[in-house]
Amino acid sequence: MTDGGSSLPEVRELLRVLATGRRVAELGTAFGEGAAALAETAESVVTVERDPERAAAARERLAGFENVEALEGDAYELLRGRGPFGLVFADAGTYDWEQILALVEPGGFVVKDDLTPGRSIDGDPVRERLLRDPRLAAVEILTGPGTAAIVAVRRM
Ligand SMILES: C[S@@+](CC[C@H](N)C(=O)[O-])C[C@H]1O[C@@H](n2cnc3c(N)ncnc32)[C@H](O)[C@@H]1O
Repeated sequence: MTDGGSSLPEVRELLRVLATGRRVAELGTAFGEGAAALAETAESVVTVERDPERAAAARERLAGFENVEALEGDAYELLRGRGPFGLVFADAGTYDWEQILALVEPGGFVVKDDLTPGRSIDGDPVRERLLRDPRLAAVEILTGPGTAAIVAVRRM
């Protein structure tokens, strides 16, 4: 990403691989570039964007994918009670981790990108949450010289 824009190409490659054969949810569609990468390999993708102009652009970008449901509104409201999903890309800028984890099936992935590498876990709410939650096995990986992501798997 950034600036609330599209995800990095390296992140999209990671998503494309992790999504393979899975039912996927994305919180924060922006212009649909991440969802398009997910849709290449996923069984299905539901993606939610609350900004109306971005949601319209994403609908156009994603129109050719029959396995994508592109919704407009608040991701937490629209995804509540849905799933479970085999991959959740948490990319809406605000993180209700309990609700996000409730969307993930055992063995399913959670991906969080846009981290600054080299920071300690202590005092970083995202790292503390994802890297230390006993319900998850998680790793932080570089997605570029100055960016990192966390990939977490929900334990069985
Ligand atoms: C980093 S961008 C998403 C990039 C996209 N996932 C991609 O891979 O190209 C974050 C987006 O989340 C949207 N957003 C923020 N809060 C949201 C919410 N509660 N529900 C849905 N979308 C939200 C913003 O409007 C913004 O377009």
